[in-house]
Amino acid sequence: MAEATGAATAEPHEAGDTSDGVRRRDFINIAALSAAGVGGAAVIFPLVSQMAPSADVLAESTTEVDVSAIQPGQAIKAVFRKQPLFVRRLTPQEIEEANAVPLGSLRDPQTLEERTKSGHVDMLVTMGVCTHLGCVPLGAAEGENKGEFGGYFCPCHGSQFDTAARIRKGPAPKNLVVPDYEFTSDTTIVVG
Ligand code: FES
Repeated sequence: MAEATGAATAEPHEAGDTSDGVRRRDFINIAALSAAGVGGAAVIFPLVSQMAPSADVLAESTTEVDVSAIQPGQAIKAVFRKQPLFVRRLTPQEIEEANAVPLGSLRDPQTLEERTKSGHVDMLVTMGVCTHLGCVPLGAAEGENKGEFGGYFCPCHGSQFDTAARIRKGPAPKNLVVPDYEFTSDTTIVVG
């Protein structure tokens, strides 16, 4: 406020480029910048508030899967956050095969136990997205090629995954990703 008063009284001297005139121009510049700042904030706020996820979107960020109908040796494809999700019930032989692999021989060493939930070692939940370049591997649907290691096969560049969905051959650097999930009952999982 003191500056505004000073600016008004300084006006007659402005043409002479006095120090008062300089101060006045400073004030005008500052006032213009301040107005722009307020305007900017007013515009940005609604944009930011529109970008915040709505309650509906947050609710959609989990996926519930009823696993009761999946028989040993079968898998189903679901969708989690717009990406394919594989849920597979392993046979005792597939569990045995996974456990027989020496960890030191794996590119991305993880046990089947580490990739499943306690008490549910037969239920393998992974993203259906190849960790090489993102193709959807085969092996979840009836009759699809499961590859050399009996898990999943990515036809894009030949990555082969075993019965714990661990990378065993081909260019993929990592195992198929196990998303966050939990059993909410013996027959239901919630992913996300
Ligand atoms: S995307 Fe799967 S092997 Fe390349």
